[in-house]
Amino acid sequence: MSGIGMENKPKLVDENNLRIDGRKLDELRPIRIEAGILKRADGSAYVEWGENKVLAAVYGPREAKPKHIQNPAKAIVQCRYNMAPFSVSERKRPGPDRRSVEISKITGDVFESVLFLEMFPRASIDIFIEVLQANAGTRCAGITAASVALADAGIPMADLVPACAAGKIDGKIAVDLKKEEDNYGEADLPVAIIPRTKEIVLLQMDGNMSETEFETALNMAMDACMKIYELQKDALKRKYITDQEVDAEQVEKPNTSRGDNQ
Ligand code: CDP
Repeated sequence: MSGIGMENKPKLVDENNLRIDGRKLDELRPIRIEAGILKRADGSAYVEWGENKVLAAVYGPREAKPKHIQNPAKAIVQCRYNMAPFSVSERKRPGPDRRSVEISKITGDVFESVLFLEMFPRASIDIFIEVLQANAGTRCAGITAASVALADAGIPMADLVPACAAGKIDGKIAVDLKKEEDNYGEADLPVAIIPRTKEIVLLQMDGNMSETEFETALNMAMDACMKIYELQKDALKRKYITDQEVDAEQVEKPNTSRGDNQ
């Protein structure tokens, strides 16, 4: 899709419709989500998605500073997507670039559509997404992680937001493209949805597809989002159960940490 080195293009889909990593066309890479992994953030999440490793931390709602950025009617959402220099094969220059500014903007827009911002006038909700290792699909992994981090912070919102891309490789529609598929494929279509209403809150497209292919890809991405939604809820449940167990243990053994010598 990026057009680089197309003369070395590998075969992306074999005669059995299997992909370079053995996946079927509608199969996601393995995904693991953990909620609440950072002590100092109000909410956090870590997502491993194939070879992607993404961390999300959330602060707020807290007073927006400097004051001139405040909105007296509602909270603002500030998002920073950042790729670590060591996250990609060719060292990425540290700091923001055009791509990370774009991804930060679209991610902030996604969450503006689900968070109940009117509840927190003059406040800011800050989302930090750190890509530690990248293998295509990091914006979707970032949105998926940030959504769990926002829920972990207890910030009121309409629903969790799962995200996943579908695309076109060797003329076939496939879900969740990895790096080689993204590089040598014909199109990539990242999608994020509000599962309860099936509203689409992110839709981007890189490359070319026919209208029918687009519809197939969109449906495939939305089906994948519903699977990811279950993993997000499961991560939050696991965190909540662990927290409850810790609380119960503290009730059973009060003040054990103080010791007898006080
Ligand atoms: O990551 P995502 O698919 O959301 O965004 P992309 O702009 O389509 O980038 C696809 C992939 O290209 C990234 O996930 C990285 O693996 C890689 N990339 C890179 O190697 N160096 C960069 N400076 C940017 C992206």
